[in-house]
Amino acid sequence: MAKIKMRETFISYYMLPILLLLLLLTVETHAHNVTRLLANHPSFSSFNHLLTKTHLAHEINKRNTITVCAVNNAAMSEITSKGYTISTLKNILSLHVLVDYYDALKFHQMGPGSILAATLFQANAPGARGYVNITIKRGGKVGFRPDGGNLSSFFVKSIKALPYNIAVIQISRILGSHAASAPTTTAPTTAEMNLTGIMSAHGCKVFAKTLLSNPGASKTYQKSVEEGMTVFCPRDDAMKGFLPKYKNLTSLKKKAFLDFLAVPTYYSMAMLKSNNGPMTTLAKYGANKLELTVQNDGEKVTLKTRINTVQIVCALIEKQPLAIYATDKVLLPKELFKAPTPAAPEDGDVAGSPKPAEGKAKGDKEKAAPSSDESDSPAEGPDEEADDGTADEASAARILGGAKAGLVVSLFASSWLLL
Ligand SMILES: *[C@@H]1O[C@H](CO)[C@@H](O)[C@H](O)[C@H]1NC(C)=O
Ligand SMILES: *[C@@H]1O[C@H](CO)[C@@H](O)[C@H](O)[C@H]1NC(C)=O
Ligand SMILES: *[C@@H]1O[C@H](CO)[C@@H](O)[C@H](O)[C@H]1NC(C)=O
Ligand SMILES: *[C@@H]1O[C@H](CO)[C@@H](O)[C@H](O)[C@H]1NC(C)=O
Ligand SMILES: *[C@@H]1O[C@H](CO)[C@@H](O)[C@H](O)[C@H]1NC(C)=O
Repeated sequence: MAKIKMRETFISYYMLPILLLLLLLTVETHAHNVTRLLANHPSFSSFNHLLTKTHLAHEINKRNTITVCAVNNAAMSEITSKGYTISTLKNILSLHVLVDYYDALKFHQMGPGSILAATLFQANAPGARGYVNITIKRGGKVGFRPDGGNLSSFFVKSIKALPYNIAVIQISRILGSHAASAPTTTAPTTAEMNLTGIMSAHGCKVFAKTLLSNPGASKTYQKSVEEGMTVFCPRDDAMKGFLPKYKNLTSLKKKAFLDFLAVPTYYSMAMLKSNNGPMTTLAKYGANKLELTVQNDGEKVTLKTRINTVQIVCALIEKQPLAIYATDKVLLPKELFKAPTPAAPEDGDVAGSPKPAEGKAKGDKEKAAPSSDESDSPAEGPDEEADDGTADEASAARILGGAKAGLVVSLFASSWLLL
């Protein structure tokens, strides 16, 4: 009994300050932003730009222990001049992201020898042989050889090191790998991606037909596939019931509604589960880019707007660069579905009523400050921004909260093991 008591005392007196310190460290070090880290280094602007364009920056920021092997603008021309598609460029760059922490000091400590470092390329294309062999030569020279490639790239310098969270280092050349630069090994080409075919074959035929009948939205979808896209399409039973309401929409709203159900980033189910918060969709209406909010609760992923909440029931396809999920209901954007107010600029009846210019509508609104978020106006300016801010903060808090909770759990688990 006394022994147990002692252990508890030990935990509370000695572990607690350590726990708190670790928590503080996690909170501080978790928030890295590779785009910002590289922004101060104009000679890496091409690499940095491509990290954003391929959405790899997002994946890098989400990881806790990572090393980015950057090349300067001159070295980038080796791949930017080849006319690669975005998904191929993404594969090539993901081979330059090592999923462990390496900096100059660590290389020095490792001494002569070699290690195999796992990369994001492997993580994104399971089965791919995408490791990088890092060889430290006797004189301290550090070489990088991708699997199946040549040793022709060397460590130049450390750009930024935040141990043991993120390191950005410069290497002399792009890591050439036939596997990463081959267009079809890991990513299906756009031609293979028959969006509506996939939807129709998996219980979302009604949505597929609706999308096909709208050339504007079809084009937006097709254009987005290559750079990565996630679609949340309603199952047939849900979409069928919604059709009368859809047919009632003006053509501008029809397109905005269809665009609203897709986001211009590839999200695997695992990524959705760790991505609570607002997401910008493909839809624009008036001055606004329409957003939806992802909220998950254990295994359940839900999508929300101010009007309703739907749940993801299954994945129709989950393969870079495309993910399509079926939802149990039709997610409705607040901008398009609301009790119409007299001030609402209905794009359908432009001829009859004089429509105020967008700028004026916004100005009026600021002066009158009705603070009613029930307005149907697409130019919701000030309200909208304030909302977005709080939503972002809230989701950031949730993410940090989650990280803390996870750490506490794992630390307690390990302290039990020690006792
Ligand atoms: C990272 O930094 C860039 C440039 O400062 C910024 O545009 C971007 O929104 C930031 N990303 C995150 C997730 O904070
Ligand atoms: C890495 O490559 C070097 C030659 O480039 C080779 O000698 C070494 O065995 C490799 N290391 C591993 C761990 O495979
Ligand atoms: C490695 O070097 C050989 C000979 O120079 C070349 O034929 C081959 O294409 C290179 N491999 C890669 C992946 O660049
Ligand atoms: C896509 O699939 C549908 C249904 O399987 C088919 O009717 C259509 O022709 C396909 N479109 C393309 C461009 O292959
Ligand atoms: C379609 O619009 C009309 C006129 O605005 C309205 O009376 C009717 O209820 C709407 N129908 C549906 C299914 O929303």
